[in-house]
Amino acid sequence: MKIPSVKGFRDVLPNEAAARRILIERARAVLESYGFGEIEIPLMERGELFARSVGSTSDIVEKEMYAFDDRDGTQIALRPEGTASVVRAYLEAGLSRAMPIARLYYLGPMFRRERPQKGRFRQFTQIGAEFLGRDDAEADAETLCLVADICEVAGLSGYRIEVNSLGDGECRPAYREALVEFGRARLADLCDDCKARLERNPLRLLDCKNEACSAVTADAPMMIDHLCEPCRTHHDRVLQLVGELGVELTHNPRMVRGLDYYCRTAFEVSAEGLGAQGAVGGGGRYDGLVAELGGPQLPGIGFAFGLERMQLAAGDDRPELNLDIFVAPMAAEAAGPAMALARRLRREGWKVEIGASDKKLKAQLKRADKVGVRYAILLGPDELESGRATVRNLGARSDHPGCFALDATAEEIGRELEGTN
Ligand code: HAM
Repeated sequence: MKIPSVKGFRDVLPNEAAARRILIERARAVLESYGFGEIEIPLMERGELFARSVGSTSDIVEKEMYAFDDRDGTQIALRPEGTASVVRAYLEAGLSRAMPIARLYYLGPMFRRERPQKGRFRQFTQIGAEFLGRDDAEADAETLCLVADICEVAGLSGYRIEVNSLGDGECRPAYREALVEFGRARLADLCDDCKARLERNPLRLLDCKNEACSAVTADAPMMIDHLCEPCRTHHDRVLQLVGELGVELTHNPRMVRGLDYYCRTAFEVSAEGLGAQGAVGGGGRYDGLVAELGGPQLPGIGFAFGLERMQLAAGDDRPELNLDIFVAPMAAEAAGPAMALARRLRREGWKVEIGASDKKLKAQLKRADKVGVRYAILLGPDELESGRATVRNLGARSDHPGCFALDATAEEIGRELEGTN
């Protein structure tokens, strides 16, 4: 009996992996052009790290985290996101002193036990960035500009960046109270989830997908109308700067994000072609997080994109994994020389597959066709005897094969291959 994969955990086959690598290279290039350096963080952390940052009442921590007790009793969690880990690593390495302004990016799998569907998995891959140490609106504007540039290089069609301000410790508590009061007066009309979390996490009321809840909250108070003066000024300045950079933003007063550490600027990126799972990326400012995790009062802003969703949104133009050369040994005694030749060609940067000498030439050439190579190099008893390998250009389908001496230089071989065009 076959053993299936775990629900929500998927394999990335070579074509998709190749497309993903291109996407990653492009995103990395943009991140590095903005001065971000890569940080590698572990897949597992202490569970309390996420409870204290993402929030113990967030869906991510409350319902979706893969958490277990290690043999020594330590509570472990598979990371559901990267921001908390980056801040932990930054503090643990003493970087808040050595590098009070830091631009870090990361890449890798995250784990959330959500209900799997198109674009939503239990293991997914994020590329994310954290910009620590700056609380000015210019840092937000630069971050949003970076987000737009990543969308561009990823080829996301019709992407939209929605922004909101979530206020701060000054103005949010009063707003929160106003929202709870609003919800209490309409409790009977809310879905069970919203009823249950109204007192603990009222902001989630605003992005509940339940139609009845959306109707109820159509005229709910919005954070944007309750911002304190400094938050208002910050927000206006961000919008002004981003406008000047020519990056288009859409204001969405209902956007609240599912992680608790945010303040002020929050954003989500959507793209066409994703259906219900609209967000390809999201992020925002988190000025209290570093202190919350035991560090100094240091601000930060960041974002993460989901690579699977980016690939879905960018369409299905996956590059084929094209090889250059197929080496076909046509007798057992040709296998050794064929392998040596393939190795030499590989060292010169050619992508080479080699067949098995016990297969008929026809079968080997069929395989060569399948892997999309342009050239087949044939090596049988005659070639060994003459010391010259036969070359066929599979694209040209010509009956005039070329040949080259088995001790030819890579350059000479290259010229011979080109010559068969
Ligand atoms: P997030 O919005 O929870 O933010 O996740 C960012 C992105 O990860 C989403 O927009 C989505 O593309 C992808 N993603 C999330 N869950 C899934 C899933 N189950 N399946 C597939 N893709 C998924 C964060 O994680 C924050 N740490 C971002 C951030 C960085 N904020 C500040 N700095």
